[in-house]
Order: sequence, then C-alpha cells, then structure tokens
Amino acid sequence: MKKNCVLVSGGAGYIGSHTAVELITAGFDVVIADNLSNSDMSGVEGVRRITGVDVPFVNVDCCDREAFAEVFRRYDFDSVIHFAAYKAVGESVADPMKYYRNNLTSFMNVIDLMREYGRSNIVFSSSATVYGEADELPVTEQTPRKPATSAYGNTKQMCEDILRDSVAAYSSLKGIALRYFNPVGAHPSALIGELPRGVPQNLVPYITQTAAGIRECLSIFGDDYPTEDGSCLRDYIDIVDLAKAHVAAISRMVEQKNKERYEVFNVGTGRAVSVFELVRTFERVNDLKLNYKVAPRRAGDVVAVWADTTLANEELGWQAERPLDETMRSAWAWEKYVRKL
Ligand code: NAD
Ligand code: WQD
Repeated sequence: MKKNCVLVSGGAGYIGSHTAVELITAGFDVVIADNLSNSDMSGVEGVRRITGVDVPFVNVDCCDREAFAEVFRRYDFDSVIHFAAYKAVGESVADPMKYYRNNLTSFMNVIDLMREYGRSNIVFSSSATVYGEADELPVTEQTPRKPATSAYGNTKQMCEDILRDSVAAYSSLKGIALRYFNPVGAHPSALIGELPRGVPQNLVPYITQTAAGIRECLSIFGDDYPTEDGSCLRDYIDIVDLAKAHVAAISRMVEQKNKERYEVFNVGTGRAVSVFELVRTFERVNDLKLNYKVAPRRAGDVVAVWADTTLANEELGWQAERPLDETMRSAWAWEKYVRKL
C-alpha cells in the first residue's frame, strides 16, 4: 500500500482543492473523487495548474457504493480525507433527509470500503458547529458538544461518533476529526477559491460579491449582541492554513505519531473577530468601500465561538500563520479572477 497516497473525497470543492494542493506540495500523491454536486472541474484544473501535477480525478458519488469501490480497486492510497458532504445549514433544516442520506451514506461507505480494501487512515471534516452556543470560550476539544440545531450539524456529530466507534472496534483503522472554525479566503495564486452556488449564505463570499456589484448590499445580522461592537464573534481560519492542518493530520497517522487511534482537533486561529472588524479589514486591505447595513439577527446564529488551538499547536505541530489582512486580500483577488474584473 502506498503510504504517501491520499484519496481526497469532495476534492473538487473549496477546502478539498486547497488541501490537494498542500498535500502535493508536501510530497503526497493525490486522487480526487467528487460527483461535482456542489463544484465543477475548475477546482481540479486549478489544482493541476498550481502544482503542475496531472492529479487523477474520478467523477463518482460516494453514496454509490459499487461505483465508489472501483476507486478503491483502481488506486493504491492508504489514507482518505473525507470532504464529500452537503453543507448548507438552512437547506438542511428544510430538507433534512437530503443531508442525512448524503452525508451519512457517503461517510459510512468510506469506512466500509476502507475496511474491505485494507486502508488505514481517515481524516473527517467536522465543524465548530458541534459546539453550538458553548458555555466556555474559547472552546477546547473537551468542551461538551451541544445538541445540534440543524440536520447538517447533526450529521457532523453523528459522523464523529461513527468514526470514534469504528476506530474503537476495527483495529485496522485510525481516524482524526478536524473541527474547522470559519474557513475563509483563497489560494494566493487566485486560481482556486470558494465558489458558492446562488446567493451566498456565508459572510466572506457575500462581502466579495457585494464588492463585485453582484449583491447590492451586505446585511450585517445584528448589532445588539452582548459583544464589544454588538456583532457576532467568529474564528476565521485562512483556507491555506486549514489545508495545511490536513497535511499535518495525515502525516501524524502515516508516521504513527498519533497518541490515540481516534483524535479530535480544533482548527482555528484562536482569535475572535467581529463581523464589523472583518468588514473593516476587507475595506482597508483592498482599499474600497463596501455597501452594508445593519439587519435583524439571523435565526440560529450563536453569539460567539472561537477556538483554543493548543492541542493542534502542540500535537499536530500546526498553527495558523496567514494574517487576516492577507486572507481578505486573497478573497477579493479570487472574486475578481472569477468575475474577470
Ligand atoms: P464544498 O461544497 O465546496 O465541497 C464539498 C465537495 O463534496 C463538493 O465538491 C461536492 O461536489 C462534493 N460532494 C458532496 N456530496 C458528494 C457525494 N455524495 N459524492 C461525491 N462528492 C460529493 O464544501 P467545502 O466548504 O469544501 O466543505 C468540505 C467539507 O468541510 C464538508 O464536509 C463540510 O461540511 C465541511 N466543513 C465546511 C465548512 C465551511 O465553512 N466551508 C466548515 C466546517 C466543515
Ligand atoms: C459568520 C458571521 C453571521 C452572512 C457557518 C455554519 C457552520 C460552518 C461555517 C460548516 C455570523 C454574519 C453572515 C451575512 C452576516 N459551516 N453574517 N451577514 O454562521 O459562523 O457558520 O459556516 O460547518 O456550520 O453555520 O458562518 O459565514 O454564515 O456567518 O452578518 O450575509 O457573519 O451572522 O455572525 P457561521 P457565516
């Protein structure tokens, strides 16, 4: 089995494409599997252009067990990073079965196939959403998870549990769940980035689309929260830094440096940033004025969440490095590239 080959499921998407680049840069071979349900081939082509490597791509639905098994037969990877999932929180509340079916089935297929074909290491894309409105801040990996308020959030909790139980029961498997905070920005080349379909639900793509004139005005959801400036606090993690955390997680398992066979790490910066601060940073570093207004609070938003990253810093030897200024510059450079501005 090739220890340095990684299957990246959902690798045509936002986080997967950036991770593929960092894996290749670190010397891993990569195979991308994706059904392009929330992406197109531009992500894969971007990875190929940035790295100069003709990365193999398989168009496959991870929920289709037989078709997915073919990827395991054809490629000689020992590790999987599983990004393939739907991620729109609001849609998951409106159509929970769509989320349970896709996110759980694809993940269970990965685990089954890894066992069947003797593959060892898996990284699962989890989320800070598992903490909900936390009782203590910043949150550590020991901070209790809160009952999920969306089907999407529930799939993250359920997949974490499936991974924990599978690793405990099947000695051939090792797993790491990475809990991402708020991934933002784009690759410095501006050849890959976030490509939301329709109206963006997340803050940074809404900002960049407003700056590009695609959206008229950014609504800031609430200025009366119990925070210094009244807007919510989040931990915005640069996408390249986040991608590098995956390289560290895979390397840890390949090199057998993991302390437990199942581990969980927060992946954030450790810094709380308000919505107003993020908007101001975007305006300053890109030298433009954004059209925005204060709007009512958005249902379901937590007031504040940011990461204690001590564990990832010490155990993965990883830490967020790219300054927020650069991240917000990269977000705008990507939007301009996509819109040909
Ligand atoms: P994305 O939508 O850009 O990427 C996900 C990719 O998976 C897409 O290319 C999509 O086509 C593919 N996919 C979905 N279902 C599939 C299936 N059944 N078979 C094959 N491919 C499938 O999303 P992203 O932002 O890159 O997120 C990647 C992962 O990280 C997801 O699991 C997401 O839940 C998780 N995550 C994202 C964030 C975030 O804010 N972006 C935060 C925390 C966790
Ligand atoms: C950030 C802040 C909004 C849009 C979501 C998911 C979470 C995770 C990351 C996957 C909040 C405010 C936003 C806008 C605004 N995804 N905002 N105007 O809600 O922290 O997390 O994405 O796991 O599960 O819930 O991110 O980018 O939507 O919002 O004022 O138009 O920006 O209220 O305070 P969020 P976000």
